Amino acid sequence: MPQAVIPTPGSELAAWWADAVVYQIYPRSFSDANGDGLGDLRGVTERLDYLKRLGVDAVWLSPFYRSPQADAGYDVADYRAVDPIFGTLQDFDAMLEQAHGLGLKVIVDLVPNHTSDEHAWFQEALASPPGSPARERYIFRPGKDQEPGSGDGLLPPNNWQSIFGGPAWTRTTEPDGTPGEWYLHLFDTKQPDLNWDNPEVHEEMESVLRFWLDRGVDGFRVDVAHGLVKEEGLPDWAGAAAMVEGQQAGHHESGDAPGAHTDAEEPHRAPTPDAPASPYLDQDGVHEIYREWHQVLAEYDGDRMMVAEAWVEPAERLARYIRKDEMQQAFNFDFLLAGWDAARMAVAIEDSLVSAATVGASSTWVLSNHDTVRHASRFGLKDPTTFPKGIGKEDEQPDQQLGLTRARAATLVSLALPGSAYVYQGEELGLPEHTTLPDTARQDPSFFRTLGAERGRDGCRVPLPWRSDAPGYGFSSAQQSAAPWLPQPPSFGELAADLQDGVESSTLELYRSALDLRRRYSLGSGSFSWADAHDPGNGVLAFQNRDVLVMANMGTVPVAVPEGYAVLLSSIYDVGNLASVPTDSAVYLVATGTGA
Ligand code: GLC
Repeated sequence: MPQAVIPTPGSELAAWWADAVVYQIYPRSFSDANGDGLGDLRGVTERLDYLKRLGVDAVWLSPFYRSPQADAGYDVADYRAVDPIFGTLQDFDAMLEQAHGLGLKVIVDLVPNHTSDEHAWFQEALASPPGSPARERYIFRPGKDQEPGSGDGLLPPNNWQSIFGGPAWTRTTEPDGTPGEWYLHLFDTKQPDLNWDNPEVHEEMESVLRFWLDRGVDGFRVDVAHGLVKEEGLPDWAGAAAMVEGQQAGHHESGDAPGAHTDAEEPHRAPTPDAPASPYLDQDGVHEIYREWHQVLAEYDGDRMMVAEAWVEPAERLARYIRKDEMQQAFNFDFLLAGWDAARMAVAIEDSLVSAATVGASSTWVLSNHDTVRHASRFGLKDPTTFPKGIGKEDEQPDQQLGLTRARAATLVSLALPGSAYVYQGEELGLPEHTTLPDTARQDPSFFRTLGAERGRDGCRVPLPWRSDAPGYGFSSAQQSAAPWLPQPPSFGELAADLQDGVESSTLELYRSALDLRRRYSLGSGSFSWADAHDPGNGVLAFQNRDVLVMANMGTVPVAVPEGYAVLLSSIYDVGNLASVPTDSAVYLVATGTGA
């Protein structure tokens, strides 16, 4: 008998997103149609059939807007234009039309916390005097010691640290050449924060929403959704320094017990309840903005949606972003951060289901994205719950085989949970992080701003291998092509999509099978209860969703398959009729009619 049923939030929700599988496309690394070594929108269009065949329901595209690319497009210079490196608005429209024709929804990225310093607004602000309306769109302040008539403003207005390292303030030079005010940037110097106390900022972002909604997008992934509003008075925050100093930054020799986690290891995460509240993360005021946007989306047909990128804890705080009149979804980073550990994963699953149920929303499940070390590599580290900020060749190198074995199992768990699942491009090929990228190839500003202490996120952003025998592993479909913008590790050759296609034991076919079963058994809109076999203390995660019993073994000894069950799918190949679930694997089981 299964144990008590945990409320499955959102199972009554009819909207497409409630149980959708969303594939994250990182456009510069997905597929290159014009041969310049950088992915583009035409490259996406060319691969939509592949995504359809994979069995996903939607795609989310990271930013492709006009941008100087100081943070790979998360520094937007024009929210209504496609950057020429990615193509044109017509290319976008063609991609959208083809995706919709295939029944795929399209989500775009919205970056509302900051613009590029090359955005027309910021240029205007720099050319305008302190106190002018143009400056009021951003967060300009005099230096701390800059009293009228005295002091020279040499110190930044407060002690906030940039999430990418270094101070969160940069000093300007006034139009007359004298040293001037400072401006706030939670991220890179080239990403000035917008002032969300200014109604003009609200109007502009609403108009940007409408621009893309009118074009037909189905939703938005909202970047840094927990960061837009800053506490009045911008008070100093002792916690800020800790977010940058003391980061493990790719080093694993800290001697922490397995499972020990510090906030400092996690990306721009709001502090735990016993730490002082951050004056710039998860401020209550952000919710007002999402209520406004909810209204805008509600004017459009077709269940348009928003998903929050909010590194907020605990789960109840995160649930506030998905109240009925706010966003529809929020990424479940607790699940991502749990690592390969049954007890931690079980807590993350239950907390997420329970807290989402309190607001009537559905949960999301995510294991990797463009900001995190790929799970196929994290799970191959000595401590598979650590969360390094990038991995370099000086750091502990993951056991690739072990990591991939566990990643395949974790994926089966993730895709069988009720709610919506997010898949990061390349994980369906079992791609590892590039852990030996030369520093000269790195481009992530966090690498530079921490003087290399953080290896950064380039290792998970390496261009995809489509063909094992082609230059750049077929990243470019053009006759002639430049080298991919980041070098690919040799292991990408044997993981190329063409080598996995139709090969039963491959990770690609495992994803296809899992997505097919997920659909056939309606797992996304399913039910959830821990099963009898659930024993997280011994590394066993086991739950029942509709007719499917899911078991994952993160322990050290094989676990018996309950009597009367047959294997539908296993994360390790060639199982036949398994009698037990081996260590580091997961299975989908169905009752055969006896003993169930
Ligand atoms: C989000 C994005 C990340 C970006 C940052 C600043 O965390 O996912 O890639 O660097 O915001 O926009």
